[in-house]
Amino acid sequence: MTRLYTRVAGTGHHVPEHVVTNEDLAARINTSDVWIRERTGIRERRFSQDGESTAQLALRASLRALEDAGCAASDLDLIVFATLSPDYFFPGSGVLLGALLDIPGVPALDVRNQCSGFLYGLQCADAMIRSGVYRRILLVGAEVHSTGLDISDQGRDIAVLFGDGAGAFILEAAEQEEGAPRGVLGVRLGADGRHAEALWCQAPSSAQFPARITAENLARREHFPQMKGRLVFKHAVTTMRDAMLGLLEELEISLNQVDLLIPHQANLRISALVQKALALPDDRVFNNIERYGNTTAASLPIAVDESLRLGRLKEGDLLALVAFGSGFTWGASLIRM
Ligand code: COA
Repeated sequence: MTRLYTRVAGTGHHVPEHVVTNEDLAARINTSDVWIRERTGIRERRFSQDGESTAQLALRASLRALEDAGCAASDLDLIVFATLSPDYFFPGSGVLLGALLDIPGVPALDVRNQCSGFLYGLQCADAMIRSGVYRRILLVGAEVHSTGLDISDQGRDIAVLFGDGAGAFILEAAEQEEGAPRGVLGVRLGADGRHAEALWCQAPSSAQFPARITAENLARREHFPQMKGRLVFKHAVTTMRDAMLGLLEELEISLNQVDLLIPHQANLRISALVQKALALPDDRVFNNIERYGNTTAASLPIAVDESLRLGRLKEGDLLALVAFGSGFTWGASLIRM
């Protein structure tokens, strides 16, 4: 007796070439390398230049993932595109990526779940593959934050945290004998919209009458993200811990079996506290926030691809992914690579 499962057939990532160090930011706003490193672990991030858009970053990551999987864009049945920084209010970046990949007719689904977006997309893709709707899906997370940050003293709490980048998975249907679980073993998601305003971007807003964005919005800097940093921090640690433990329990897998945990890269102190709460040693946790900052929906696939290329993650390993972000939204997943 065989069953259908979702395997990760290929991964890829792309970050813009332009490196912005903490010192570069400190030259523009009232902050310092020491403050940023001590509070967040971040040393530098990448900023896209010359109008390189979210869809264009996604294209570069997707082509690498396709090459890694040994297939062509024309082999794809669906694009799932997770981002909070789409090229336009509409249409979504998924169709733009489809055009860049030159695959007219292939459906494209946009996922708007911020730092948890990649895991929301993963659950959609996994369910569609296991139910036989599609056989090969490109799942991509990509962000251009740099054009939406308030790089001024007023926006310094958020401006120092975020960076640009993209990461992609090719997910494929595969058959296996019952009882030998492989590929995506499970994804558990959650959301609590009561905290929507703890980390949000207020304008433009279709709920605002008579215009989505006004001079007053701009004067109040409401077109830039706003965050209650301490509240987000506190919820991130406990929610990621609980999401991970909940999924492990549901799948009857023990933490000892996990070869590598990759937490969403929001803040190195958040990752360290999640690691501590799960009592995992350093060699079973992967972080790269020091080089990229928080790349939101791109953070997990960039880190997975890097850890594979660095040999920190190998075929057959049990990978644990966990994320938390604006919404609030969160998620956890276990994948047998
Ligand atoms: N440089 C220098 N000082 C800064 C600063 C910066 N970039 N940003 C804020 N400060 C100042 C504040 O104005 C405050 O000054 P005050 O004490 O004179 O009022 C001081 O630093 C401390 O601010 P506080 O908010 O208490 O710092 P913190 O220890 O909570 O760290 C964050 C701030 C943003 C790093 C932290 O709250 C955080 O990481 N939160 C979660 C963010 C996150 O992960 N978001 C994405 C979720 S997916």
